[in-house]
Amino acid sequence: MIPALYMKNSYKKGDILPMNQQELESVARTLVAAGKGILAADESYPTIKKRFDSINHDSTEENRRSYRELLFTTPGIEKFISGVILFDETIRQAAQDGRSFSEVLAQNGIIPGIKVDKGAKDLAGFSGEKITEGLDGLRDRLIEYRGLGARFTKWRAVITIGKGIPSRYCIHANAHALARYAALSQEEGLVPIVEPEVLMDGDHDIERCEEVTAATLKTVFSELFEHRVAFEAMLLKPNMVLSGKECSEQADVAKVAESTVRCVRRFVPAAVPGLVFLSGGQSSELATEHLNAMNALGKHPWELSFSYGRALQEHALKAWKGEAANISKAQNVLYHRAECNGAARFGKYSKEMEAAAT
Ligand code: 13P
Repeated sequence: MIPALYMKNSYKKGDILPMNQQELESVARTLVAAGKGILAADESYPTIKKRFDSINHDSTEENRRSYRELLFTTPGIEKFISGVILFDETIRQAAQDGRSFSEVLAQNGIIPGIKVDKGAKDLAGFSGEKITEGLDGLRDRLIEYRGLGARFTKWRAVITIGKGIPSRYCIHANAHALARYAALSQEEGLVPIVEPEVLMDGDHDIERCEEVTAATLKTVFSELFEHRVAFEAMLLKPNMVLSGKECSEQADVAKVAESTVRCVRRFVPAAVPGLVFLSGGQSSELATEHLNAMNALGKHPWELSFSYGRALQEHALKAWKGEAANISKAQNVLYHRAECNGAARFGKYSKEMEAAAT
C-alpha cells in the first residue's frame, strides 16, 4: 500500500513539501515491500533508440509513449512491481485515456520515480573513465518532478574496470556527486536511489569485480555520511559481483551470490532498508537466478530486491515487435518475468516457473 500522502497529486511546482524523514522512510520501505521490486523504464533517448533498433522500430515520441503505456498497464503487474523509474519525457506523457503516466501508476498502487542524472560523460584527464553530470539546477528540477508525481529519484554513476582503472579519483568524484544528489533529493521530499554501477564489461575475473565494488561502496557510503544523508530514507542500487563479460572463466550462480552478499555485508549499513540490484546486461533468466540465490542465503539485514531494466523488458520488447496486435502477448511476457523476480525475492524461484510459461 502506498501511504495516503503519496497518492495525492496535489503538489504544484514550487510547493514547499510537508515531507519529513518518517514519510520518506515509509516510501523507501514500500519500494522494497515483500515479493516486489522496481521496473526501470528510464531509458534515455539514445538507449531507447538502441532497444527499438533491435526490433526495427522507429524511436518516435509516439512509439516511445505507446511502448511505455504497454508496460505500465500490464494487468496485475502491481502484484510484483512496487515502483517504476521514468525518464524526463515519459513523466510528461499520458496514457490514451488522458491520465498522466504517474497517475496511471499511482492509481494502481505503483510509486512513480524519475531518473534525474544527465548521463555519464568522459572524466577529463582520466582516459576511459566517466563522471555523471546533472547537479547544476537539480534542486529546481526535483521540485518540478515532485509536482509531476514523482516520489523517488535515481542517479547512476558508472565505474569501469580495465587496465589501471578505476582510479581512486574517479570513484571519489562519482561518490561525491551521488552524495550531493541524494542529499538534495531528501531535502525535496524524494527518496534517492543511489546507483554506483561497476560495469561488467571487460575480461576481469570475479575477484577483481568484488575488489572494485568494495572500494566503490566504501567510498559512496563515506560520502553519503559526510553529506548527512539519512540511510533509512534511501535505497542502494548496486551491481552484482560478477565475472567480466569477456572473462574466460565465468563464476557460477552460487559463487556470484556468495561474493555479492559478502561484499554488500561488508560495506552497506544495515540502516539502509533495501538493495535493488541492476541487471547490467545479464540475461533475464540469470538476473533472476542470481537474485533468488542471494535471497536463499538469507536472512539479511536489508531487503534484497531488483530494479531491472533490460532483465524485465528484453523478452517483452521482442514479443511486442512494435505491433499493436502483440500488446497483450508482450504484457503476458512482462508479467511472467515480474512474477519470476517476485518469487526470487523469497528465494522461491525455480526453472520450472520458466517451463510453465512456455
Ligand atoms: P539494467 O537492469 O538494464 O542494467 O537497467 C537498470 C538501470 O536503471 C540502469 O541505470
